[in-house]
Amino acid sequence: MADIDWKALEEAAVAAMRKAYVPYSKFPVGAAALTEDGRIVSGCNVENASYGLTLCAECALVGDLHMSGGGRLAAFYCVDAEGAVLMPCGRCRQLLYEFRAPGMQLMTTQGIRTMDQVLPDAFGPENLEDKQ
Ligand code: THU
Repeated sequence: MADIDWKALEEAAVAAMRKAYVPYSKFPVGAAALTEDGRIVSGCNVENASYGLTLCAECALVGDLHMSGGGRLAAFYCVDAEGAVLMPCGRCRQLLYEFRAPGMQLMTTQGIRTMDQVLPDAFGPENLEDKQ
């Protein structure tokens, strides 16, 4: 797995946050992640007049992951408007779980945590194996 440059991830998350479209909540979010093969992918939240259709920053990040070659996420960093670390919401923890590399790490308000720590006992692709 590539070395984790947390500073580079923070900077990419802040840059993404500055692109957020948040006319309703006024709460910009930026997310960035390091892929197993050393790329940095990122995303910002994009809101909608139909509030429930809002796309979290992590949604855009997962899109960027696929559009830039796919692969798995080794490390993740999410920030708010002040650049402070933000915990991914519950739904987005599930989104990230799908594409986690083994031992994926997240910068959290409690320091570095693993995916398994922030989404314990998760439902995932493994649960569907041999059932399709
Ligand atoms: N938001 C994200 O983009 N990611 C999260 O993990 C938490 C919440 C966004 C959604 C909405 O645009 C704004 O933050 C306020 O909830």
